[in-house]
Amino acid sequence: MNINLNNPIKPDLKKLTKYLEQVEDNAWYTNFGQLHQQLTERLEAYLGVQNLLLVNNGTSALQVAAKALSANGVVTTPFSFIATASALKWQGHKVLFSDVDGKSWNLAAPEAIELVNQQDGFDTIVATHVYGNPCDVELIEAQQPSGVNVIYDAAHAFGVRVAERSVLTFGDASTLSFHATKLFHTVEGGAICFKKKEHFDIAKRLINFAQHHGEIGINAKMNEYQAAVGLVNLDIIDDVLSHRTHLFETYTRLLKNDFILPEWHDKASKNGAYFVIGCASSEERSKIESALQENNIQSRRYFEPAINTQFEDADSMPIAEDRVSKVLCLPLHYYMTVQDVERVCKVLKESKL
Ligand SMILES: Cc1ncc(COP(=O)(O)O)c(C=O)c1O
Repeated sequence: MNINLNNPIKPDLKKLTKYLEQVEDNAWYTNFGQLHQQLTERLEAYLGVQNLLLVNNGTSALQVAAKALSANGVVTTPFSFIATASALKWQGHKVLFSDVDGKSWNLAAPEAIELVNQQDGFDTIVATHVYGNPCDVELIEAQQPSGVNVIYDAAHAFGVRVAERSVLTFGDASTLSFHATKLFHTVEGGAICFKKKEHFDIAKRLINFAQHHGEIGINAKMNEYQAAVGLVNLDIIDDVLSHRTHLFETYTRLLKNDFILPEWHDKASKNGAYFVIGCASSEERSKIESALQENNIQSRRYFEPAINTQFEDADSMPIAEDRVSKVLCLPLHYYMTVQDVERVCKVLKESKL
């Protein structure tokens, strides 16, 4: 039997049809319709946030957040999905990388703050909660320089809390991806949670062409069909989160003595978005990958290569480049069983060098 890396939540089709009939009755398919409003309210309540703006994907969430905060140059992490940096580069921001912390694999906060302070024309930090593991949000909040905005790429951090506070309430904006491969999804989609209502208002205009406001906008709205999928999937999200977290804890228990695991923020909850291991070497990783493949188990090198190596003229980032050369992401999804996790771990232990 194959064990897939991922298997998106399949929305309940009966419930989905009911919502789609409602869309038809309303004859309102996009542009901030009723389902859009319902999903916004339910997500705000569920996640414990305010000023949540639904958008069409996690990439435009980053771009719109940066625009709404009037970002110029951006300091960001080399260890993330490529979109964290490429979305901003595409939009014309200058992008500088700052290396990660060797234990958490998240942007090393003091160095990033120092870099943004030193560089003329740089006024924004974009940090990813990689695999759902929060950055050092408390330190960044305490030491955020005036005139510098912080955007968190929280694409992996749905439902995560830091000392009972939603991780999405840190920083000036947090962006989410609701891509089908994410633990909560709307097929394609995303959201931005702003600290301030004024930035939410700007962003809401920007994603609807900013008509009549003397600004240049874009079309980044979520439509009613996407919102319908979100409403259906939200009904089972507690179950999804608890099952995935249980699988994550099982992996941790079985593998913590054999592999390097990213050190989790000590006050943060987990969401089971991803489970990754750090191998002792890239050779060990190759051996493990082959063994997994032979056993019909998928794995993926998330996130290799380091983003800085894909940008012309970017400095080398030794810690991130070392970590990505040994990282392996293991299967984890809602339809997996604890027995599946045990099977994966058995193969890993047997193939370890
Ligand atoms: C960290 C991170 N940022 C941004 C994105 C982009 O999100 P989307 O695919 O919804 O555009 C993703 C996921 O795909 C991601 O993993």
